[in-house]
Amino acid sequence: MDDLKAKYLGQIAEAGDENALEAIRVSAVGKKGEVALKMRELGKMTPEERQVAGPALNALKDEINSALSAKKAALADVALDERLRTEWLDVTLPTRPRRQGSIHPVSQATEELTAIFAELGFSVAEGPRIETDWHNFDALNIPGHHPARAEMDTFYMHRAEGDERPPHVLRTHTSPVQIRSMEKQGAPIRIICPGGVYRADYDQTHTPMFHQVEGLAIDKDISMANLKWVLEEFVKAFFEVDDVELRFRASHFPFTEPSAEVDIRCSWDNGQLKIGEGDDWMEILGSGMVHPKVIAAGGIDPDVYQGFAFGIGIDRLAMLKYGIPDLRAFFDSDLRWLRHYGFAALDMPNLHGGLSR
Ligand code: DAH
Repeated sequence: MDDLKAKYLGQIAEAGDENALEAIRVSAVGKKGEVALKMRELGKMTPEERQVAGPALNALKDEINSALSAKKAALADVALDERLRTEWLDVTLPTRPRRQGSIHPVSQATEELTAIFAELGFSVAEGPRIETDWHNFDALNIPGHHPARAEMDTFYMHRAEGDERPPHVLRTHTSPVQIRSMEKQGAPIRIICPGGVYRADYDQTHTPMFHQVEGLAIDKDISMANLKWVLEEFVKAFFEVDDVELRFRASHFPFTEPSAEVDIRCSWDNGQLKIGEGDDWMEILGSGMVHPKVIAAGGIDPDVYQGFAFGIGIDRLAMLKYGIPDLRAFFDSDLRWLRHYGFAALDMPNLHGGLSR
């Protein structure tokens, strides 16, 4: 019995985990374990022998059982210590900066100009980016042979073989939204239409996809003076200055008569773009009095109604306002650029709190 005791207490002390411990329990004090076998031998003993051996076997069994449960508790403590050590967290460490997203300058500029035009009484209208050739060109007084179609470097959609209808186009400007809005709403109307447009062109100030905002105001007594005032108010509010130098240049667009292009004074000194100073001019918009044919194409009587329209390059506004010299970087998805030029997500631009902070 002393040998059994030494053997099992030794094994228990050595056991490395709960499984090993359970195996020891089965072979020592389990139903068919060594102690149980010894108990069976009691029957063959004389009563005197049994009186000594019986209590001794029970004591051995108790001793092994308590050694087992003590070891089990000790193993659980070790496991817990190990867990606490690996799951340890130093709550005094400084926090890591969160890699959160930011608002792209084009989205920011769009929010800003929407806030300004809302104050001037314009609501927002939208149209499809895949446009019919009629809305993008014909309805805007650009017939099939017109050179403006070629100048615009249009992307044409594919038509099935044998389908003779004119192909759809990726809209080359936001002007077709003028037509769709007049068709839907009639007159009087005062809307802006911001959105993406497409042309096959690529250099420092041109990308194949860019953004414009169209403006349209149609009523019974609208003049060029109203157009000039709205544009000046807009540009001052957008650039957050009391005065900006604008240049109205006589121009030609098929959909306006008369037409004017507007440039803003800027400088490009060693890659730095600044507004309001220098000897350069950057064209930011086209505008004019809406051509009677365009008003008629929108389903409105041009003998009763007239108005003005304009189309502004949003990306160019953002370049000028935020001093970003290369338009192509807007669409590179370079995270470092986005973090540098992006805006905090919760700073919604409004005229009272400040457009951009
Ligand atoms: N659609 C012209 C363009 O993309 C811009 C434009 C010029 C829009 C004159 C207008 C306008 O509404 O009146 O080049």
